[in-house]
Amino acid sequence: MLDSDLFRTLIAEASLAPSVHNIQPTRWRLLAADAVLLLEDERRRVPVADPSGHDVRLSHGAALEGLSLACGRHGLRIVRVEMDERPGDASGLRVIARLTLAAGGPIDPLAAAVASRHSWRGRFQPIDALLQDALGKLATAPDLLLVPPGPAVADIAELADRAGFHFLSADAHRRELFAWMRLSRSDPRYDRDGLNAQAMGFGPIEATGVSLVLGPLFPWLRRIGLVEPLSRERSKATHGAMALFHRPEGEDPLETGRAFYRAWLAIVAQGLGACPVSVLADWPVSSAALVARHPLPAGRRLVNVFRLGRVPPGAGPARARLPLAELIV
Ligand SMILES: Cc1cc2nc3c(=O)[nH]c(=O)nc-3n(C[C@H](O)[C@H](O)[C@H](O)COP(=O)(O)O)c2cc1C
Repeated sequence: MLDSDLFRTLIAEASLAPSVHNIQPTRWRLLAADAVLLLEDERRRVPVADPSGHDVRLSHGAALEGLSLACGRHGLRIVRVEMDERPGDASGLRVIARLTLAAGGPIDPLAAAVASRHSWRGRFQPIDALLQDALGKLATAPDLLLVPPGPAVADIAELADRAGFHFLSADAHRRELFAWMRLSRSDPRYDRDGLNAQAMGFGPIEATGVSLVLGPLFPWLRRIGLVEPLSRERSKATHGAMALFHRPEGEDPLETGRAFYRAWLAIVAQGLGACPVSVLADWPVSSAALVARHPLPAGRRLVNVFRLGRVPPGAGPARARLPLAELIV
């Protein structure tokens, strides 16, 4: 059923899934014609921003959903996911789950959105009927609580700037984020992983500015009160909506990650672009304020927040991904 050529095709599609800071922690191994192992590269972590490993496991979930969508496009389906958590080996690889595949199954309509989904971090087009129509359709999407464009979105953006400033002010946080940024094209990792200048929407001058602000100038800029005004979420909030992504309390983040990817694809399927603003859910102050203003259904927790809207024409994905040869182990 599965040969190595088809396996490579499936993994190439699965690798388009989002991952925190684009660390791409998921590895894959073909075990048999109907069996695949999902592994973790334990060296790819963000211990300061994600000490519990929640976001890494959520990223594995997104990759798993990516594989499931890819399988559907190629006449296959994942029929069993068995958790198989063993300690990592000397090479830093740790098995997470064993997947069993079978033939058949319908093509998931969300699979059509995989190729065009990417993190859009720029400004949105002005509000128009297309946006209103798309938001109307998303109102019934699972796991999303929509906040339409307007003052409530501006309030969330302001909260996001405060949350972002809170984390950036912590030296360890800032250093970790900076270490995953690829601000110069001459960085050999620019197209491989992390957050490159193009994906972040920085031109060359802005990229240099950011490397100074997040690097040596930060303590000085902070002292003279210049870091907070440089935060960007507020300035980008116009024309956009926000969506609170929520899932059942106590859920395994692997499952949460599958739903996270599906929610993002549902937004893209309505012709919109989006990007998570994790700091809003990660900072207890902003998370509590958000849930107080926008109550979630009972038994649900706030996992993340998407900013979403209509992306200007021609803004395609700026993908940085590890080569397949490193993802298949
Ligand atoms: C759990 C999780 C949290 C994320 N949080 C943020 C975030 O706060 N800000 C942001 O700009 N991107 C965030 N992202 C998006 C990733 O940076 C993005 O998926 C990755 O760089 C790959 O790029 P792509 O989405 O364009 O394929 C997050 C992704 C995941 C899976």
